[in-house]
Amino acid sequence: MDQHSSAPESAEARTGLATTVNEARSGDWWRDAVIYQIYPRSFADGNGDGMGDLEGARARLPYLAELGVDAVWLSPFYASPQADAGYDVADYRAIDPMFGTLHDADALIRDAHALGLRVIVDVVPNHSSDRHEWFRRALAGDPAARERYHFRPGKGPSGDEPPNDWESIFGGPAWTRTEGGERHWYLHLFAPEQPDFNWEHPAVQDEFRSVLRFWLDMGVDGFRIDVAHGLVKAAGLPDMGDTGQLRLLGTATLPFFDQDGVHEIYRSWRRVLDEYPGQRIGVAEAWTPSAERTALYVRDDELHQAFNFHYLNTGWDAAALRAAIDESLGSLGAVGAPATWVLSNHDVVRHRTRLGGGHSRGRAASLLMLALPGSAYVYQGEELGLPEVRELPAEVRQDPAFFRTADPVGAAGQEGLRDGCRVPLPWEESGSSYGFGSGGSWLPQPAGWGALSVTAQTGDPESTLELYRTALRLRRARPELGDGEELEWLPAPEGVLAFRRGGFVCAANTGTGPAALGFPVGELLLASGPFDGGATLPGDTTAWWVRG
Ligand code: GLC
Repeated sequence: MDQHSSAPESAEARTGLATTVNEARSGDWWRDAVIYQIYPRSFADGNGDGMGDLEGARARLPYLAELGVDAVWLSPFYASPQADAGYDVADYRAIDPMFGTLHDADALIRDAHALGLRVIVDVVPNHSSDRHEWFRRALAGDPAARERYHFRPGKGPSGDEPPNDWESIFGGPAWTRTEGGERHWYLHLFAPEQPDFNWEHPAVQDEFRSVLRFWLDMGVDGFRIDVAHGLVKAAGLPDMGDTGQLRLLGTATLPFFDQDGVHEIYRSWRRVLDEYPGQRIGVAEAWTPSAERTALYVRDDELHQAFNFHYLNTGWDAAALRAAIDESLGSLGAVGAPATWVLSNHDVVRHRTRLGGGHSRGRAASLLMLALPGSAYVYQGEELGLPEVRELPAEVRQDPAFFRTADPVGAAGQEGLRDGCRVPLPWEESGSSYGFGSGGSWLPQPAGWGALSVTAQTGDPESTLELYRTALRLRRARPELGDGEELEWLPAPEGVLAFRRGGFVCAANTGTGPAALGFPVGELLLASGPFDGGATLPGDTTAWWVRG
């Protein structure tokens, strides 16, 4: 791939740039891509206000190109009151001043392309911000605007009770009663500042196709679709007849999640994506009850990828991981889609902490993920081995889930509380916010963050950063590590997972003690921890070999 092609000037030429980048690589680029998630507010701060921004991200693109990823996905940077860190969008075609300007977005896309990196942006279609112009008009009583959301009269003699028993993902009822005028309730599956759109309405459907085109015209290579499973609600908005609905998320088809009607929307989005040159992709954030249900989002005429939350939710256990891998490859292979693998993102406890077992286990899990067939998602900072930051005082927290959880401090671990994985990255060993920016950081960074910084780890062969760099370089160099569903399990002792892909072998020991491997090992390529390359694999270690 040409890493140094310069960006053309005109908008038309820019649309063609993605084609140039795409054509430079053979096959479907996204099938085996490593995609790096930038969470803009915590990645790099270009203007020294303590909050990450597009300018900061642009300046760090060479770091990502050098890391060896294929694409970046940016979490929302749109105009937003930030009630849910930007997942409450007030204007889908504008950049929030805290992140920069449209000019900055354009410059970032151009620079990324010039470095050979593709750019995926987030789109948030399930709900808008309560400050979105349509919702403001709806609250002011405009009947046409109200139809674009879910307004309903309350239950009970004076309409004091919510229209149904649905619960918000962030806690409390999924309905809020409006003030004045017609005191109807509106639906919000997330925070009250995030009213759900009514996707039955043609104006909503048209608007989002237009938003997609706006960003495609800017040159983006795809979209990560927020709450892709939530857009369509069961007809009549029926009661669940149950409380504690959160525990059912991802395990059952709910009247507000994973309804079959969503697929028609993605078929129409696919037609939009296919209007553009190159391969512009759609990635579903879809929490569904099973790998089969997830596979429905990536059928031929729908989206290209869906996050593999079943894999993310599988603990560090060889048998469970093997089952999750088989299930994913089987159900996705059946619809011709590549698998995706993900361990961390901005909504979950960082995997180094979540899996228990600390540093070694986190590295072993990463190396296993990067050996699997398909596409892998890397969340910013996981390449530095960052742990979850648990000790954040209540007064600095910003996650709406924290404030809507009855007993957040008593809540088990950090589960469901998301500030701890959003602490700004350490780039340097010392200095203001460890190189994140010149003006501090919007969440406090823990002592010791500097030792995990990019500069501290660069050049240290033992570091997690160098492990990722080497793994990504090997992944690019070895064709059998890329696309495909083919994976042959090798006999392995309990607690060990071993497979072959062409001339490549990977084994992961999920136990804590050493395990004797039952197959001939070849030349060691890489290991996640101290290992002599022989037939006994230490605990919490993954190794890669050239087949023996
Ligand atoms: C998705 C996002 C999450 C956000 C929610 C509501 O799950 O990843 O951060 O809070 O949607 O938009």
